[in-house]
Amino acid sequence: MYNKWWHERVFYQIYPRSFNDSNGDGIGDIQGIIAKLPYLKKLGIGAIWLSPLYASPNYDNGYDISDYKAIHEEYGTMDDMKALIKAANELDIKLVMDLVINHTSFAHQWFIESKDPQSKYHKYYFWEKGKTTKSGKRLPPNNWQSMFTGSAWEYEPANDMFYLHLFTKEQPDLNFDHPPVIEEVKDILRFWLDLGIAGFRCDVINCISKTSLKNGRPKVYKTGQEHYLNTPGCHLILKELHNDVYSKYDAYTVGETMDITIHDAKEFLDNELTQVFAFDQVAVDHRSLPLFKKKYKPRNMIKALKKWQDTIDWNTLFYENHDVPRSISRFGSTKYRFESATALAASILFLRGTPYIYQGQEIGMTNVAFKSIDDLDDVSSINVYKLLRKLLFPKKLAWRFVNNFTRDHARTPMQWDDTKHAGFTKGTPWLMVNPNYKEINVAAQLNDNNSILRNYEKMIALRASDNALTKGNLTFLKSHKDILAVKRKLGASEYLVVINLGNKKRKHRLNIDGELMYGNYDEYFDDQKALRPYEVQVIKHH
Ligand code: NOJ
Repeated sequence: MYNKWWHERVFYQIYPRSFNDSNGDGIGDIQGIIAKLPYLKKLGIGAIWLSPLYASPNYDNGYDISDYKAIHEEYGTMDDMKALIKAANELDIKLVMDLVINHTSFAHQWFIESKDPQSKYHKYYFWEKGKTTKSGKRLPPNNWQSMFTGSAWEYEPANDMFYLHLFTKEQPDLNFDHPPVIEEVKDILRFWLDLGIAGFRCDVINCISKTSLKNGRPKVYKTGQEHYLNTPGCHLILKELHNDVYSKYDAYTVGETMDITIHDAKEFLDNELTQVFAFDQVAVDHRSLPLFKKKYKPRNMIKALKKWQDTIDWNTLFYENHDVPRSISRFGSTKYRFESATALAASILFLRGTPYIYQGQEIGMTNVAFKSIDDLDDVSSINVYKLLRKLLFPKKLAWRFVNNFTRDHARTPMQWDDTKHAGFTKGTPWLMVNPNYKEINVAAQLNDNNSILRNYEKMIALRASDNALTKGNLTFLKSHKDILAVKRKLGASEYLVVINLGNKKRKHRLNIDGELMYGNYDEYFDDQKALRPYEVQVIKHH
């Protein structure tokens, strides 16, 4: 078992638009990624998840695809893509593409043709007549809500029908009840796998099959979900994709599985997907509606991590991606910036599973002090802001709620150095650069042996040096409630990993005999049985 590449490697997520711009148009691109592969190799990265690079009108920054077999010209050409695959291959870095199949763009040829009820593409989408009131007003077929606010149905004058979109109206949902849609997806998968891609990160994959189009139980958010989340149809489709395609290529798949429970996860991991992303650990600081903050408490984080570690054999381990604000600003501390960034790093690198680092996390990039809605680009933030204003929220309050969790905190350009625009572009960046780039950037951290970046490097190397830290058994140990304490063990090799996930000194009674293999404080034993704020110790028992 545990002999696949994803049992050893550390992933790095690239959000291409914000990673590195090689041609000065203010937008990151494929040549920019190629130029940074040696940097990633040196960091110890073994696999990359690329957020979408496909042709797209960018209503949702590429998560609205208009051609699955074409590269967006902003990012380069198919030849650039092939060069990236080759360059990554030469460095032994696996590439995983984003697979967005719950919906296409409204500019996809299938959708354009589907408007015609006679077209063979009509059934590729959910076209419905809807309802008409006595006064002749046209109403959507049901009460489902779009994840990005408003009704999940849009009226199309061209055919006098409504189409379903669980996200923006520019992202119509594909109809997986229609078998040719599944065949199209298989064709896309094979196209990329044949080009040398190692697998896919599958966007909102647990929403792809709808059981019925009946009204949903009315809720403040996500009304209708019981008709499309984790449905039996979804499991059948994923099994089919696995049997007919993934298994033939030994491909890796990781599902973005919204609101997933452990029970659902187990089903998805049974010959459907290699791994799933569960989100409990990134939900510990907000209420059920991700607008309202809740105080971060280390014990809630530890609980969330423990729940998944205790039940799922091989987890994904992450705190950041392009949809969530920066972890250091949520679970860390500005006072203990270095300590908290490295403590969070340790808590994904030394648990059991596949760690995912999001671009910029390795240098401790933080949330941005955006000033107003005009600073933002993210369609979901803008829609939510508009909705709150419509509901008569004062401007200031609406802005505060949106600013709490806007996805743009994670999407500002990568901070490479302290030159203009953080070395991301020679042009004008598509989204503002975080003004703290003079202090927080890659170049400065490469020059400092004890930077956050250098510590990521050290921890990744330590993780790779002993199988006990990857494939070894993991047991949680009782300790102070702010301390994450686990034992990792394989054969005779045994480690204690202790991490204080809070900002106060905490005592514990664990056995710390052995050799300190990694620590994030200069002086080690200031108090042998205590951990200072966000202190990490990885001890090898002899
Ligand atoms: C999840 C993606 O991560 C997010 O960025 C996107 O907006 C939605 N799925 C819709 O594709």
